[in-house]
Amino acid sequence: MAFQNGVKEMEPCILVIFGATGDLAHRKLYPALYNLWQGGQLPDPFAVVSIGRREKTTEIVREEVVESVQTFSRNEWEGGGSEDFLQKFYYYQQDFRDEESYDHLQEFLGTLEEEWNTGGNRVYFLAVAPEFFGTISEQLYHHGMAPNEGRSWQRVVIEKPFGQDLESAKELNQVIDRHFSEENIYRIDHYLGKEMAQNIMVLRFANTLFEPLWNNRFVDHVQMTLAETVGVEGRGPYYEESGALRDMVQNHMLQLLALVAMEPPVALDTESVRDEKVKVLRSLDISPDSVVRGQYGEGTRAGEHLPAYRDEERVSSASTVETFVALKVSMENFRWAGVPFYLRTGKRLPRKYSEIIVKFRKLPGVLYFQNETLDSNVLVIRVQPDEGVYLKFNAKQPGTGETIVPVTMDFCQNCMEGYNSPEAYERLLYDVIRGDSTLFTRWDEVEHSWRFVDKIAQFWKGSREDIPIYPSGTWGPVQSELLLREDGRDWLYHLQ
Ligand code: BG6
Repeated sequence: MAFQNGVKEMEPCILVIFGATGDLAHRKLYPALYNLWQGGQLPDPFAVVSIGRREKTTEIVREEVVESVQTFSRNEWEGGGSEDFLQKFYYYQQDFRDEESYDHLQEFLGTLEEEWNTGGNRVYFLAVAPEFFGTISEQLYHHGMAPNEGRSWQRVVIEKPFGQDLESAKELNQVIDRHFSEENIYRIDHYLGKEMAQNIMVLRFANTLFEPLWNNRFVDHVQMTLAETVGVEGRGPYYEESGALRDMVQNHMLQLLALVAMEPPVALDTESVRDEKVKVLRSLDISPDSVVRGQYGEGTRAGEHLPAYRDEERVSSASTVETFVALKVSMENFRWAGVPFYLRTGKRLPRKYSEIIVKFRKLPGVLYFQNETLDSNVLVIRVQPDEGVYLKFNAKQPGTGETIVPVTMDFCQNCMEGYNSPEAYERLLYDVIRGDSTLFTRWDEVEHSWRFVDKIAQFWKGSREDIPIYPSGTWGPVQSELLLREDGRDWLYHLQ
């Protein structure tokens, strides 16, 4: 179970990466595998088959693995000492759209399995565009490579985007579902692999200090910011279809929100946790005037000129796609009725960070709280780049006066000396190999997230207003500030 200390068995297996010549394998998967290997967290035996269309050799792939580890890994490449690690990698050239080629692939994997004695256990990682999920899973099935009745297991890992809306997500799911059962499908949301995302449940359910107050009697509102400084970074065609709503809200933001708002699960096993998350996603509601969108215009940062979204490569010069979203979400359930959850995410904002802020209610207006300027308690869950928890509370200023001042307790996990946080993909790969899907999203979570997101997309479809443009390097359109100001609140900017 991912949220417990209990360790599931690691069994020998082969990891097969479709689309291994892409960015994901290079930036995330190879370094994650290296760090797992260094920490003794890969099964033994274990092998990796990188599949790509280009002509290449295993030797070249091994060189690429070294280069990717040297560039992106949190732990340094150990050189000669890592030879055993490199020996696990193989290249297999295949056009995965070609049905015939799967017989050969099966043969190749069969030979490797004998050589490595991995017993037929396989993880298929589909690092490919979603339109290929169907073809690949179908072919794996038809060639006897999908889950069989025998003693081995085969799991399939898929990356987002999981559809464009509920309809397309359903279609996609049906294709995969025909060939792999839900328990063998691992839908990645890399935010769930982040240390602090995993810490939310512990913070809530392992602390008497927080859990009794975690409801509409004591919480005034919740804020969540997932801010990025980058623009679309050459991903124009993808982003034109997704926008910030589908790129960040449908998955990462709603998953974090579910962890913050869920009821305590009856146990820490995968399905109990997911059951509670689904209930949150089902209870989400929003009105048209609680939605703000924006698109970055040109701007400057540290003297550097930043182009407008519409001037980015392979983006329409008349694009109305949003690069910023702010929402006021309500939750129609007993715990949270009346408590707004303000969410915002955007590209080209002034700084990169992700955090969740729980603002508590004020105490009754006698004794100290007649003083309007006295603020209530604030708890900040810092997801990145700092990982930790920050608590703001009131105390008397030392001296003879009666002044009350805010003071803070700040726990920064990744500031501790010698601490080097594992990357999200390390945790996620580790869990797939162990067969723990707690940190992956179940179909009904995806389904209810889409229902909510489709509702917002519908508001925009019917709107005649032009999309507000915000200068790159600012905190989004002014409407985002107004969304909170109308409620007598403000965004809390990365408290220090
Ligand atoms: C991805 C989005 O899922 O998350 C990207 O597609 C975004 O657009 C990225 O930049 C942000 O992830 P992180 O881990 O850098 O906050």
